[in-house]
Formats: sequence, structure tokens, C-alpha cells
Amino acid sequence: MARNYDLSGKGALVTGGGKGIGRAISLGLAECGARLILASRTKEELEKVAGEIKAKEGDATPVVTDLMVSEEIDRLVETTIKTYGRVDILVNNAARSFLRPLMDLREDGWDKIFDTNCKAAFLLSRSVAKIMGEQGGGRIVNITTVGAVRGGAGMGVYHASKAALSMLTKCMAVEWAPLNINVNAVGPGLTKTAFSQPIWGNPEVEQMVAARIPKGRLGEPEEIVGAVLFLCSDDSNYITGESIYVDGGTLANT
Ligand SMILES: NC(=O)c1ccc[n+]([C@@H]2O[C@H](COP(=O)([O-])OP(=O)(O)OC[C@H]3O[C@@H](n4cnc5c(N)ncnc54)[C@H](OP(=O)(O)O)[C@@H]3O)[C@@H](O)[C@H]2O)c1
Repeated sequence: MARNYDLSGKGALVTGGGKGIGRAISLGLAECGARLILASRTKEELEKVAGEIKAKEGDATPVVTDLMVSEEIDRLVETTIKTYGRVDILVNNAARSFLRPLMDLREDGWDKIFDTNCKAAFLLSRSVAKIMGEQGGGRIVNITTVGAVRGGAGMGVYHASKAALSMLTKCMAVEWAPLNINVNAVGPGLTKTAFSQPIWGNPEVEQMVAARIPKGRLGEPEEIVGAVLFLCSDDSNYITGESIYVDGGTLANT
């Protein structure tokens, strides 16, 4: 898929850039000319994606980071600035979840999901926004989900963490608009990655789930990328505090 936005010279930081949707977003940003910092806990995955980007004459630096540790978030931002001298784009994509009915959810389970999906995005955005403000502006894109606006059984705390991230998107957008920082969200529907493997790994379950999606199938990671690139481009200069759902019509059918 050819990507047409011009992001030449921009410094972009993508969390969870080593696989799935984060990998696809990183490749898309690199194809448009952005220089990438890729962050997650798994060095081999980050190095593989950085290698793919470099093989196409792009620029990418892996930075192994555990986003649940605030000192590591500080170090990630320092490394980004040391490496590229600036940060123009931040994509808060990393997230975790597990299937657990709310009645059985332990306090540390709640903390792990909220710390990764919401608190880390806040801490990283706050740190990066200070730099973007001094630079004259920037773009922050938070990856949420259709589950941010729709209830469901089994992953309640994941839904709640993403609903909180959606609201955080709006509040950051309002507070940071005077700094010329646009903050938006992209909410995927079910997308074929390791995250959703328990669904598409079982053909019967996949068929059942796909039947409820107007497009009749799950999304591919590459199909989430266009909305993110648009929100990082000049074409979206006047859009902030918004969410774009890339879901094959899932929410329209709710
Ligand atoms: N796939 C779907 O159906 C779907 C649907 C709606 C929304 N989404 C959203 O899309 C985004 C990407 O999901 P995906 O499907 O691509 O998932 P994935 O393949 O499981 O990737 C998640 C990424 O987050 C990183 N991560 C998790 N915890 C981390 C931590 N503590 N520190 C640093 N990195 C961490 C993981 O890397 P390490 O484990 O190596 O650290 C991994 O790179 C998420 O925000 C998810 O909520 C996905």
C-alpha cells in the first residue's frame, strides 16, 4: 500500500512498535519519511522492525522500555531527544489485556492494565508535550478501541482503561491546543494480531465474530495505519480531541 503523506524529517515515537498494529504504524510513518523511535520490552522484535525500516532507507532506533516503570519513560524521552533532537509525533499504541470476569479480577490485575494502557500514555504524553510545546507543536495519537465506547464481558478493565484514554485524549487536546499540539485517538475494531489471536485462531469463533461486523471480516494491522498518518499530517491541522474508529462498521452496527 503506497503512503502519500509527507512527514520527512519528523521525529516519531511509537510505543509497542515491535509487533501488530504498532509495527504497521511504524512502517507507515517511516514510509512517509519520519524517523522512528520504537519502544517496547522485547528487544528482538524492535530490532526486527528497525531492520525492516532501514532496509527501505528509513531511520529507526529501538529503545527497550517497560512503560510500567516511570523512570524508563523518562529515559525513553531522553533517548529520543538525544537521537533525533526533536519529537514531532507520539503514538501511544502499547497496551495489554487478559480475559477475566470483573468478579475475579485482582487489584494488581487492574493496576497492570490501567498503568500500561492509560497511566503510561499520560506520563509519556506529558513529558513529550513539554518538548513539543517548546518546538512549536506536534501530534499525539492514542490507540484506543471500539471497546472504549461499548461494554462487554470478560475484559471490563481493558474497556474502562481505554474509555479513560479516550477522555484523556479530549482533555489533553483542550489543554494543549494553545501549544499547537493536536491530540486525537484511533480506535480499531477487531484486528488480526497476537492480541486477538484467541479469536481468529479458532475458525468457528472467527466466523461468528466476523458475522457481526458489517464488512464481514476482522481488520488487518495495515488497515489501521491510514487514519494515524492522516492525524499526523497537515491535512488534519484543525482536528483535535477526536476519535476515528477503524472497525469495518462495527460501531455503526451496535
Ligand atoms: N488487535 C485488536 O483486535 C485490537 C482491537 C482494538 C484495539 N487494539 C489496540 O491496538 C493497540 C495495539 O494492539 P495489537 O493488537 O497490535 O497488540 P499486540 O500485538 O499485543 O502488541 C502490543 C504491544 O504493546 C507492547 N507493550 C505491552 N505492554 C508494554 C509495556 N509494559 N511496556 C512497553 N510495551 C508494552 C507489546 O510489547 P512487549 O510485550 O514486547 O513489551 C507490544 O509491542 C493496543 O492499544 C490495543 O489495545 C487492538
